[in-house]
Amino acid sequence: MDQTQLQAPDVYGRTFQMDEQTLGVIATRLEARGRHPFFLRVIDEYMGELSLTAGESVLDIGCGTGVAARAIARRPDMHGPITAIDISEHLVKAGRRLAEEEGLGDRIDFRVGDAHGLGLPEGGFDVVVMHTLISHVADPAAVLAEGKRLLRPGTGRMVVFDGDYASLTLATDAADGGEATDRAVQRGIIAQPRVMRAMPRLLAEAGLGLLWSRAYVVADIGRADYCAPMITSFRVLLPKVGVMTEAEANSFADGLERASAENRFFGASNFYTYLAGRSA
Ligand SMILES: C[S@@+](CC[C@H](N)C(=O)[O-])C[C@H]1O[C@@H](n2cnc3c(N)ncnc32)[C@H](O)[C@@H]1O
Repeated sequence: MDQTQLQAPDVYGRTFQMDEQTLGVIATRLEARGRHPFFLRVIDEYMGELSLTAGESVLDIGCGTGVAARAIARRPDMHGPITAIDISEHLVKAGRRLAEEEGLGDRIDFRVGDAHGLGLPEGGFDVVVMHTLISHVADPAAVLAEGKRLLRPGTGRMVVFDGDYASLTLATDAADGGEATDRAVQRGIIAQPRVMRAMPRLLAEAGLGLLWSRAYVVADIGRADYCAPMITSFRVLLPKVGVMTEAEANSFADGLERASAENRFFGASNFYTYLAGRSA
């Protein structure tokens, strides 16, 4: 299986077939999210847990605009090579440009590829990072198997961070409190909303030993903060994958932004990080 066999609408899983306007909205949203203290803290915590030794290499799969790859490159303990791969050529080009603008152009090798089969040499990386990739792929087990194949036997470690998007909720004034719109959002932007709950089993089945995990709850109460760029992106992304009309998406986003302006917003999701090792 490859990404072209994705069953769900998931706009982030279809970046390889999206138009420039949609990819521009996605890039803006990813960059805004990447600057949020929550994301910076998550990356800092898993990178700290990895305790990199000098020269260890990192592969960021599903890098988007390179939010994680650039944060990793900025770390004082990161001296080895960084490779960043995404299925979208547009996002890879944006990532390369942003890295150059930040003076990190020579630290990160950006490439285009499908996580189900990257065609890179076996055992070539010390660390594989999947930062909000696994919830968007056609076949999570195949992607984990490919990540494991690329890890150095014995010492290679994999980081899988993502939202438990089955828990993602945005309260609305509708009679159902937002249940129907929650389902539409999950269908529209997430192919695998429960995959992070299956991760202990999927890692074990892939032959990866669980080393460490961490749970997070992001909850915007009163004002939309972490959720704000996501809500802006809904106006374009939800109609694009056909889970709402343009009018429905605008009215949904208007309602959430009004709730935030009036300090009565509620939006939340759980997130998890898993760190696993390739022993053989
Ligand atoms: C939610 S974005 C996360 C991007 C980035 N890691 C971040 O956190 O800002 C998911 C990314 O996965 C990429 N993607 C989806 N399916 C992929 C696949 N099969 N192989 C490689 N990249 C993929 C998308 O193009 C998108 O950039």
